[in-house]
Amino acid sequence: MTGALAAAGAMDRMYRHQRHIYDATRKYYLLGRDLLIDRLRPQPGDAVLEIGCGTGRNLIRAARQYPQARFFGIDISGEMLATARGRIAQAGLSAQVQVAQADATSFETEKLFGRALFQRVFMSYTISMIPRWRAVLEQSTASLSDGGELLVIDFGGQEGLPGWFRPVLRKWLSLFHVMPRAELELEMTVLADRKDASLTFERPYRGYAQYAKLKMPG
Ligand SMILES: C[S@@+](CC[C@H](N)C(=O)[O-])C[C@H]1O[C@@H](n2cnc3c(N)ncnc32)[C@H](O)[C@@H]1O
Repeated sequence: MTGALAAAGAMDRMYRHQRHIYDATRKYYLLGRDLLIDRLRPQPGDAVLEIGCGTGRNLIRAARQYPQARFFGIDISGEMLATARGRIAQAGLSAQVQVAQADATSFETEKLFGRALFQRVFMSYTISMIPRWRAVLEQSTASLSDGGELLVIDFGGQEGLPGWFRPVLRKWLSLFHVMPRAELELEMTVLADRKDASLTFERPYRGYAQYAKLKMPG
C-alpha cells in the first residue's frame, strides 16, 4: 500500500497542472490510441475496462463509437480522475462511463464497479509508466471473461526511425517517468501460452509504438 500511495503522490504531482493541457499536447505523440479504439469492437452489452484512463479521453471517444457497450476506467491519480469525471459529465456520458481510483497492479473491480470480469480490457501508454508492469498484465488477463480481449498500445523501440531520434525521445520520456517496455512482446507471448490465448503483435509507425492483442479462449 505504501508503494501505491507513493505512486499516486508522484502521478498527482506530475499531472496536477499538466492535466489541463494533457489532451491538447499528447495527441501529437501518443500515437495509435484511435487505432486501438477502432479495434476494440465490443458487442452490445459488453463491458470494457481501461487501466490508467487518465483524463478519460479514450473512454469518451470509445463510448461515443460504441454506444451500446458500457465503459469503466481506473487510474491511480486523483487529479487525472477529477478531469476525467468532469469531461465525462460534460459529454453527457455519466450513465455509460464510470471511473474510480485504483492501482493497476492490485485492483478489485468487484468492489469498485460491482463486476469482476470484462469482455475487453485495454491500456494506452500506461505500462510504460508502471514499474511493476508485468503484474498489471497478469491482473488484466485475470479480469477477462471467456473469449475476452486485452489490447495494449504503448511506446515501442523506435527501430525504424532515425538513429538520433531514439536517445532524444528516451531522454525526454524519462522526464515524465516513462520507460518503453522492450520485453513486452516476450512477456505477452509467455502469458498467452500460459493462458492458452492467442496473440497478435505489431510495431506501427516504424516502431514508434507497439500494439498487442491477447484473446482468451472460449
Ligand atoms: C500517459 S497517461 C495515459 C492516459 C490515457 N490512457 C491516454 O491514453 O490518454 C498514463 C496514466 O497512467 C496512470 N498511472 C500511472 N501509474 C499507475 C498505476 N500504478 N495504477 C493506475 N494508473 C496509473 C497515470 O496517472 C496516467 O493517468
